[in-house]
Amino acid sequence: MKYDLVTIADLCIDILFVGDVTPEYGQVEQFVADYHVELGGSATIFASQFAKMGGNPAFFGVIGNDIFGAMLSEKLKSNGVSTEFLTTDTQFKTAVGLGLAKGDDRAMLTYKGTMADATPELVLKSGILGSAKHLHIASFYLMDQLNPLWQTELPKLKALGHTVSLDTNWCPDGSWEKVHSILNHIDVFIPNEEEALHISGQSTCDEAGKWLNEKVKLVVIKRGADGARVYQNGTVVNHEVPAKLRANLVIADTTGAGDNFASGFVYAWLKGREISEAVTLGMRCATGSLAHIGGIQGQLKP
Ligand SMILES: Nc1ncnc2c1ncn2[C@@H]1O[C@H](COP(=O)(O)OP(=O)(O)O)[C@@H](O)[C@H]1O
Ligand SMILES: [Mg+2]
Repeated sequence: MKYDLVTIADLCIDILFVGDVTPEYGQVEQFVADYHVELGGSATIFASQFAKMGGNPAFFGVIGNDIFGAMLSEKLKSNGVSTEFLTTDTQFKTAVGLGLAKGDDRAMLTYKGTMADATPELVLKSGILGSAKHLHIASFYLMDQLNPLWQTELPKLKALGHTVSLDTNWCPDGSWEKVHSILNHIDVFIPNEEEALHISGQSTCDEAGKWLNEKVKLVVIKRGADGARVYQNGTVVNHEVPAKLRANLVIADTTGAGDNFASGFVYAWLKGREISEAVTLGMRCATGSLAHIGGIQGQLKP
């Protein structure tokens, strides 16, 4: 097959202003120190890192017929991500996330626009689901309009021998249990610790890992600076962030660390590498982007 995996993106443009400034109404004009414009969305970061390692992701995203849509298309291409399945919508404008970073805090405003327009009908019509033997689902809750699609298509894909990985990311409205009905179709689940606790309803990482491992064969819980824990066949293996990666690590922004981790892990796992090797590649990808604003700059390019 031409592609290594399929992913459906919460594609948007991220604009981040950086400065020691609190916005003020009353037509108050203030200056910021810097700004960044970057590809946004969890699956977008995942796919970009996957392509930079030499993989070929089939990528579905919806853009508007506007300047930000054109910019997203160009940026995807320059990161090596195919735009074959990029769909242009004429009804909505391209999704934009606007952030103002002040110290280690930030205020965020999001216009969902075309992001909400990635509907089950459009995804099915594109034919993308059959274009690779693996599917990676990112932003399960943010793209919850796709839930009916996963309910009908995951059993079919599994029956065809496809594999599926999942990184739900955060659930904005707290309805964490929504993911329960698809867990039995997932081969690799890669949540962070807080997400794993919410989804399982357990109170420790190991309890959550064991609970999830009864439903999913391979569970990798990301634990920020504490590394990751892998649950498989009822066993647990702890993986610390290697000293080599921790040395001289300057953290500018943790956006995308988990998405880049998932990308490295899945890349190695699909190649049949040992779990410990997949975790290490995940950590190399994750720590690469920590020194930069956003999840794209600093991605691993072996
Ligand atoms: N402060 C940190 N120091 C070192 N490594 C980190 C740090 N934060 C994240 N990482 C790396 O990124 C991976 C994923 O980060 P994490 O924050 O757990 O995921 P998410 O972004 O999904 O919440 C970790 O497993 C680790 O390898
Ligand atoms: Mg995450």
